[in-house]
Amino acid sequence: MPFYQKRGIVPEKRHIQFREKNNSLYWEELVSREGFSSIYSNIYHVQPPTNVSGVGDWIPLNIKPLQDTHRNRHFKTHHLKSSGDAISARIPLLFNQDTIIHKAHVDQSMGILYRNGHHDEVLFIQSGKGQFCSNFGNMNIKHGDYVVIPRGVIWQLIIHDPIRMLVVESSGPVETPNRYRNRFGQLMEDSPFCERDIRTPNFIEPKYQKNPVDVLVRIQGGYQTYSYEHHPFDLVGWDGFYFPWIFNINDFMPITGKVHLPPPIHQTFQSPGFVICSFVPRLYDYHDKAIPAPYAHSNVDSDEVLYYVKGKFMSRKGIESESITVHPMGLPHGPQPGKIEASLGKKETIELAVMIDTFSPLQYADILSTIDDSDYPYSWQES
Ligand SMILES: [Fe+2]
Repeated sequence: MPFYQKRGIVPEKRHIQFREKNNSLYWEELVSREGFSSIYSNIYHVQPPTNVSGVGDWIPLNIKPLQDTHRNRHFKTHHLKSSGDAISARIPLLFNQDTIIHKAHVDQSMGILYRNGHHDEVLFIQSGKGQFCSNFGNMNIKHGDYVVIPRGVIWQLIIHDPIRMLVVESSGPVETPNRYRNRFGQLMEDSPFCERDIRTPNFIEPKYQKNPVDVLVRIQGGYQTYSYEHHPFDLVGWDGFYFPWIFNINDFMPITGKVHLPPPIHQTFQSPGFVICSFVPRLYDYHDKAIPAPYAHSNVDSDEVLYYVKGKFMSRKGIESESITVHPMGLPHGPQPGKIEASLGKKETIELAVMIDTFSPLQYADILSTIDDSDYPYSWQES
């Protein structure tokens, strides 16, 4: 995240001697993106971060693709049978070379630590409460949070109330949109959110655990377990621009207009292969002949994934909380019959939804056949 943060103690200069009271040196580790050319943080360990005591099992992640017709889709993910911790509960649903989108119904705290080595992750918290614990510090999580975890952060999730979440893994970095930031990286006056809305880790005292600590590392195609000689949550301090952070969807300040404005006004994050947008409660357009419902549209370069959080979604029918619709590129879609007329004169919407528009076609996991609404492609028919 492009703003500076500092926690704990750090030396007055980078890369100089930095010692404990007993005169032993702390272990500096640089964590950086794009080689040494983008954001980074310098983190200071009590113990060497490099000491691997065991290379464990390789666990492949095989996603069986759904072989089926090409059509608009509606999946009722509320009905998925998912349980376990924040990693084992994940059910991959949609995927391409840029992203894997999972759903997870989490009812257990994680017993091991986890690091995604090849993807940034965004956890969208549908419901529940817990604590995100990481080598950078801890953050409480609640309904509506987008938890943004750059690859490389070591973390675990402790459950206070069972958590339902949408998980987006991204091959590219997940960032705030370029057009929201000025040349210094600050979120601008007309951005729908700013740094004040972003939560960052609370510092925790370093752990001096002597026993080896298992870390599950997610890499392309599966998971690799490692045992580290020292607990990775052993920092006395860190500073820089690289760390996990949280933005809550309810802090998104919607942009509204005289006539219907297109989805880019809802953009919240960017990644090279997709964007994430937030549809939040807002006032409708104020032209005296405005049509609040959207027009039919064909985004010929995007697959459009909509995840419905809560509220009545203005342009759809038959949708329930935690439904996912997918409108693949090449198929026009828009409000269903009656929804345009029904929107006329309406002053506001209470919809809450997350949209993920991918720039390459998505594949579907075969488990989706169990929660598929096969009538959805015909839901635009006049009755
Ligand atoms: Fe759309």
